Amino acid sequence: MSGSTKQTNFGSRLGFILASAGSAVGLGAIWKFPYMAGTNGGAVFMLPYIFFTVTVGMALLLAEFAMGRAGRSGPVGSLNNVCGKPWGIFGGIGVFTVFLILSFYSIVGGWCLKDTADAATGAGLKIAPEQLGSYFGAFVSDGVSSYLMLLLFLFITAIVVLRGIDKGVERFAKVLMPALFVLMIVLIIRGVTLPGGWEGVKFLFDFSFDKLTWMSVLNAMGFTFFSLSLGCGIMVTYGAYLKDSTDIPNSSLWIAYLAIQTALLAGLMIMPAVFAMGQDPNAGPGLVFVTIPFIFSQIPFGWFFMILFNVCLLVAALTSSVSLLEVCIAYLQNEWHMKRISASILCYVGLALLGCVSALSFGVWSEVKIFDRIIFDFLDWFCSNIMMPLGGLSIALLAGWKAWNSTYVQVNVVRKYSASANSFIKFSLRFLAPLLVLVVIATGV
Ligand code: PFF
Repeated sequence: MSGSTKQTNFGSRLGFILASAGSAVGLGAIWKFPYMAGTNGGAVFMLPYIFFTVTVGMALLLAEFAMGRAGRSGPVGSLNNVCGKPWGIFGGIGVFTVFLILSFYSIVGGWCLKDTADAATGAGLKIAPEQLGSYFGAFVSDGVSSYLMLLLFLFITAIVVLRGIDKGVERFAKVLMPALFVLMIVLIIRGVTLPGGWEGVKFLFDFSFDKLTWMSVLNAMGFTFFSLSLGCGIMVTYGAYLKDSTDIPNSSLWIAYLAIQTALLAGLMIMPAVFAMGQDPNAGPGLVFVTIPFIFSQIPFGWFFMILFNVCLLVAALTSSVSLLEVCIAYLQNEWHMKRISASILCYVGLALLGCVSALSFGVWSEVKIFDRIIFDFLDWFCSNIMMPLGGLSIALLAGWKAWNSTYVQVNVVRKYSASANSFIKFSLRFLAPLLVLVVIATGV
């Protein structure tokens, strides 16, 4: 077997679900979902998102876990081990995508750090609601401070990764993910009871299909890939750390469920406050960062809850960024035989350079546009809507055709699923997922 990872298995099934859900559930659900729903018509974005998650998303989660556990390596090694030599190239493309994602994800991670610092010093709650937008805008367009935050976020990510999967990621995820849910519920209750807040709920659940466009369907599919960390080898890598006694279909179902639930809760947390503040739901990537301080300013002991919330959000971001960095480092270790520490340093430097380009796109380089988007938005769009779906397409085809026997064994290893369940999985991987991905990309682009 080429390039096997040294196995540090997940301590428990719950730990695995939480850590993979930790990769899935992160800034995507909390930062990205509300503004994507806001810019894509609210309710009509949610429907295709849920549809893609329970069809393509579930099938691919399962395929990636199966591929990883059978191949016991990173994306390249696992595909080579399971499907034969040239196929690992698709894993390599996935690693490249992961690298791109982490470069812009760290910017948003840096925004979380800044919010946490503001919460800790009390600065976040002193700003008048109407000035929150310009306060945040001034921070992101000042390249230096947002870049420093990015470097710090990457540094923390690297430290957690260096401590190892079971000591670092699993322990954090187990405690703080549930805490995040509880805090989100508190914020939802406050947001919905604000004057005008109910309008936000209506916006999320008012299905006017005239707002549905192919672009919003493509965006919804891209968001499914982004939010489940699919199509770039992340879940293949997590699968490689998975014990034989873990039931893959059942775990995939849980992860998809947790991802949808978090996105919906985040929508319910943000949209009422957006309407109560008189903000535009169309405001784009800064939406959450402008809205959250406002909701806390409306809550008794808001400063305390704001610190707690920001720490949880930071951990949600870290459990995702850690999974991204882990894949890059594992690739360098397995395929280029680098030491873990040198691989980490190399990744850090590369990401710091690429991250700088995206960070500047909010400030001095805001005029530089690719396909009408600033560099940050372009990278996000390109990774989510093109690279990840294409990566998913290749995994589906490989797991469904070339490696179906191995996929079948992995799916049924703990518990024998019925013939019809297995046929459905096979059909989804062979036809349904590839077809949906191709049609949506082709028409959307
Ligand atoms: N799924 C993560 C989130 O929603 O925040 C982001 C992410 C992690 C995307 C890992 C892609 C990935 F490979």
